[in-house]
Amino acid sequence: MELSSLIVSNNRKHILVVFIGLVCISKIALASAEESQIYTVHLGERQHDDPNLVTDSHHEILGSLLGSKEASRESMIYSYRHGFSGFSAQLTPSQAKELSEHPHVVHVTRSKNMKLKTTRVSDYLGLSSTAPTGLLHETDMGSETIVGILDSGIGPRSDSFNDKGLGPIPARWKGQCMSGEGFNASTDCNRKLIGATYYAKGLLRKYNGTFNAAEKDEAMSPLDKVGHGTHCASTAAGSFVQNVNFLGQGQGTARGSAPRARIASYKVCWNNEECFTPDIIKAMDHAIRDGVDVLSLSLGSEVPLDFEVDRSDFAIAAFHAVMKGIPVVSAGGNDGPHTQTVANVAPWIITVAATTMDRDFFTPITLGNNITLLGQETLYNGMEVGFADLVYFDELTTEDFEAGKVKGKILFYFDTSNSDVDIADIAEKKGAVGVIMASQPTDTMGETPGLIPTAYVDYEVGMDILLYIQTTTAPIAKISPTKTFVGRPVASKVARFSSRGPNSISPAILKPDIAAPGSGILAAVPSETGAGYEFMSGTSMATPTVTGIVALLRQKRPKWSPAAIRSALVTTALQTDPSGEPIVAEGSPRKLADPFDYGGGLVNPVKVADPGLVYDMGYDEYVHYLCSAGYDDRSISKLLGKIYTCPSPTPSMLNVNLPSITIPYLSEEITITRTVTNVGPVGSVYKAVIQEPQGINVQVNPQTLVFGSNTNKTTFTVKFSTTHRVNTDYHFGSLTWTDNGAHNVRIPLSVRTRVLNFKL
Ligand SMILES: *[C@@H]1O[C@H](CO)[C@@H](O)[C@H](O)[C@H]1NC(C)=O
Ligand SMILES: *[C@@H]1O[C@H](CO)[C@@H](O)[C@H](O)[C@H]1NC(C)=O
Ligand SMILES: *[C@@H]1O[C@H](CO)[C@@H](O)[C@H](O)[C@H]1NC(C)=O
Ligand SMILES: *[C@@H]1O[C@H](CO)[C@@H](O)[C@H](O)[C@H]1NC(C)=O
Repeated sequence: MELSSLIVSNNRKHILVVFIGLVCISKIALASAEESQIYTVHLGERQHDDPNLVTDSHHEILGSLLGSKEASRESMIYSYRHGFSGFSAQLTPSQAKELSEHPHVVHVTRSKNMKLKTTRVSDYLGLSSTAPTGLLHETDMGSETIVGILDSGIGPRSDSFNDKGLGPIPARWKGQCMSGEGFNASTDCNRKLIGATYYAKGLLRKYNGTFNAAEKDEAMSPLDKVGHGTHCASTAAGSFVQNVNFLGQGQGTARGSAPRARIASYKVCWNNEECFTPDIIKAMDHAIRDGVDVLSLSLGSEVPLDFEVDRSDFAIAAFHAVMKGIPVVSAGGNDGPHTQTVANVAPWIITVAATTMDRDFFTPITLGNNITLLGQETLYNGMEVGFADLVYFDELTTEDFEAGKVKGKILFYFDTSNSDVDIADIAEKKGAVGVIMASQPTDTMGETPGLIPTAYVDYEVGMDILLYIQTTTAPIAKISPTKTFVGRPVASKVARFSSRGPNSISPAILKPDIAAPGSGILAAVPSETGAGYEFMSGTSMATPTVTGIVALLRQKRPKWSPAAIRSALVTTALQTDPSGEPIVAEGSPRKLADPFDYGGGLVNPVKVADPGLVYDMGYDEYVHYLCSAGYDDRSISKLLGKIYTCPSPTPSMLNVNLPSITIPYLSEEITITRTVTNVGPVGSVYKAVIQEPQGINVQVNPQTLVFGSNTNKTTFTVKFSTTHRVNTDYHFGSLTWTDNGAHNVRIPLSVRTRVLNFKL
């Protein structure tokens, strides 16, 4: 265990070196293996209430290894003392190994890089309704809550961070607003942006003094130079701002999910790509001390995932935050539509998928036969050009361009090459008056690259255009400026990029948990005038949407645990979009969305505060998960900071009290237990409604749940049996508890038959 945790790493080369170093004891390998690295040393739950004593104990342990307190001070980068107890230090692999054998050390991980989960800047979508829902009113839009955003910093002068009408900063706030390059705490923080700090010590140490902020267009301060952190913060908790638009599109009022919640910005990502785990977990450690109500992290590790994800520094820091009642909301990642790509899969994290509404904006293309087709993905706001000749080449060559064959014409082509040649750019330089490109659909939307109108169509529409060209003697076309279709119901889809389950670490733990709009989100970016707004796409954008809703819930339901909040999100989620259309998942082929695409479904802020029943979890349930995941008593005891013995027999992961049931291997039959807590009216009576997965029999016992004044919690069982005779893929269904429709508490069921008893 020790050895395997020591070599947790994204860097396969490094793993190899350690193996060679240990096994062959070759001199060369040892030399490179002994290069120092940054490790995080986990000591479990802190043993002292006084943070200074916690840090002293860290220096004692490290000092005894390195020979002196001085050496310890030099090596140590951070001491963590509000969430879990631990520290990050620069160590050689053999020192790290020695430490991992120290009696007080839970385990040692090599620090690694995480990344922001945005896809591409400049995407599009209509603004969601700005009419405040019931929940917004009932919670004064979250004015008493503090949202902690760990990201690329903050552009403080955005209109979205105005503090008009906000009361004093909540008294429990203990955080800081720091000054630094381009950031003046006394003028840049206010009653909206109440905290702004930055964490770079880990990164600076990793670069060994060669990280030059100016060269990398970074500021050693809370200031956001990238835009991502500002965008996420304003999506979660931006104030109301009128007349926001980007290039004339998306005109309307901008606001975050919780428009009056306070923002605490923790800058942990640098240069748009590096979010180093020691910096992230130090920020989480401070956020716990500072008094945030919810943590939002639009970042994650790259797929393929590390093994031991439950023990990754971030997952463990999140565990301790959740144990202190602070929900952690994190991005599922942008590696879809392939399966098993979802990241941040620990059962205590709220993992968010992204939906898109990508047909809100169209660039009309009118052919000479008066048929109008709809181009996507580019915004053209220039002049109406009018009809021009439409040209297509079977093989487009440089000579064609040089011979002036596109001059004054609209060029149509299929983008099939993988080359980086920017045909639209060349066409414009050679005098084309428009470009239509047929390509595989993506989820992005950008400005037209040049000055001439450029429209993208998918292959299907491309074939219609080609047919028109080939059957017409003098084909012509015109490209009109992009039109916004506001208020027209459009089907929501799980975005193509949104990472999919099943969870590759613990397949019985459904991930993602919930989906929210994440494609073409218009939100603030840093700007001196304060009026900078841009479209961005990614699970990064979906995450703060959920974070803001969680903030509202924290205000409305202060006693709910993070698990109860997650349960409310999942069981009230929508499987159909507001127009009543089932939500589909983009990918190839497109299909109805299933729980591996969107967990419970699309987040539903209208119902989330009144779910009726919740599937709650606390300390014991999470620890049972760790037992079922195969961690031994010793490791778990150290993680928790007290002696712990897993129950015997070891709890089944299938019984972790999640608002979902996922059975990766059903051979004949299995009975699963869940417990629900009534958070609705006393005396409620619920009946089970089952939608069976195909070929699976599902029996719930009891079929009726009665909640009296003394029974707020009740346990039921669900028996699954398969009628399949062969191994199948997953089939999906649902279990809904309903009190005559006042509440419909729905959880997704995902079952895969594995006929294991082969007899030869
Ligand atoms: C920050 O702003 C305050 C108030 O305007 C001003 O007095 C102070 O000089 C500023 N500090 C810096 C470093 O610019
Ligand atoms: C860091 O830099 C110092 C001096 O610049 C050098 O002595 C040391 O070996 C470097 N350490 C690593 C790990 O590169
Ligand atoms: C296209 O529409 C215009 C205006 O409605 C009309 O004058 C023209 O005849 C139509 N052309 C064709 C080919 O239908
Ligand atoms: C059950 O919930 C009700 C209403 O929230 C509360 O008054 C009561 O004390 C709870 N009972 C128990 C046994 O927890």
